[in-house]
Amino acid sequence: MASLDSSRIFQTGFGFWQSKVLLTAVELELFTKLGSQSMTGESLGKMLDLHPRGIWDFFDTLVALGFLNRDGNGPTALYSNTDETAHFLDKNKPSYIGGILEMANDRLYRFWNDLGIALKTGKPQNEIKHSQKSMFEVLYEDISRLEQFMGAMRGISFGNFEAFAQKFDFSGYKTLCDVGGATGLLSSIVAEQHKHLECTSFDLPIVEPIARKWIAKAGLSDRINIVSGDFLKEPLPRADIITMGNILHDWNLEKKKHLIRSAYEALSENGVFIVIENIIDDDRRTNAFGLMMSLHMLIEFGDAFDFTGADFWEWCTEAGFKRYEVVHLVGPCSAAIAYK
Ligand SMILES: C[S@@+](CC[C@H](N)C(=O)[O-])C[C@H]1O[C@@H](n2cnc3c(N)ncnc32)[C@H](O)[C@@H]1O
Repeated sequence: MASLDSSRIFQTGFGFWQSKVLLTAVELELFTKLGSQSMTGESLGKMLDLHPRGIWDFFDTLVALGFLNRDGNGPTALYSNTDETAHFLDKNKPSYIGGILEMANDRLYRFWNDLGIALKTGKPQNEIKHSQKSMFEVLYEDISRLEQFMGAMRGISFGNFEAFAQKFDFSGYKTLCDVGGATGLLSSIVAEQHKHLECTSFDLPIVEPIARKWIAKAGLSDRINIVSGDFLKEPLPRADIITMGNILHDWNLEKKKHLIRSAYEALSENGVFIVIENIIDDDRRTNAFGLMMSLHMLIEFGDAFDFTGADFWEWCTEAGFKRYEVVHLVGPCSAAIAYK
């Protein structure tokens, strides 16, 4: 018994402390406002309009967690961004991924407080708890929430889409349609790196102006078509490659199978269907983030869930696909690829 160690239990049990420190730093735009400067704790606290009581504990916790550098000790010490926070958490940089953390702080943190209720009832615990509407309907009623969600998706997907653009062999294909393309991020990254491809980003009509804005900002308006529609009601645009990033996990089994069938029908002969998500390992033992994402789908939608590569392949075989593989992208995320 002497060799047993309780530290992992404590670390996880109090994980919300670290989480809230980082999320609050993002909320306060600490990393953005600090930018490339080095500042004393007092100046940094003043810049963020913080009460003096908490500043040293807050900044030094961020140092201890590896999210700030500190040169020296005591009141004259200088705080600065680490290489990672400067790159990923400064809003003024295109590499900013904090959108997902902004949404985690603003929405998800509160909803996860009701995980126990979700587990007892099987019902969602987000904004739709008190309404009969779907999550997307509620989220999209308010333009600032829609923009926040779109920014969040960019944050969580950026690294995975970059890895996908580098790892997949696009040479035998001419057209790509990204279904549920949101801001057009996947199409933008792929179009930038694979000049021969004609890309289409497909999403709901309400998302179109946001996609147009982001695609124009990337200077790719002449390379990417934007098509609006409802993927549950309409056929998908025809293409050699159909991608779906974090789409299938938003839906129950019946709708997942509908989307897979629609992709099959829209693909050209020898086309390929690619799903980019936190694909759970087939034994459901190791991809903890993918498993928690599935719990998160319970919280957001109720009957929606994440899945393993084997689950995906079973559904794709039913739809008629011939062959499949799973290609690891970044961290918990993979591309599950089904060939027609
Ligand atoms: C979880 S987000 C994924 C965004 C992006 N693919 C990514 O991975 O970053 C789901 C996307 O599906 C879109 N969507 C939801 N319901 C839809 C529908 N019925 N038809 C078309 N798009 C829909 C949403 O607007 C949203 O952009």
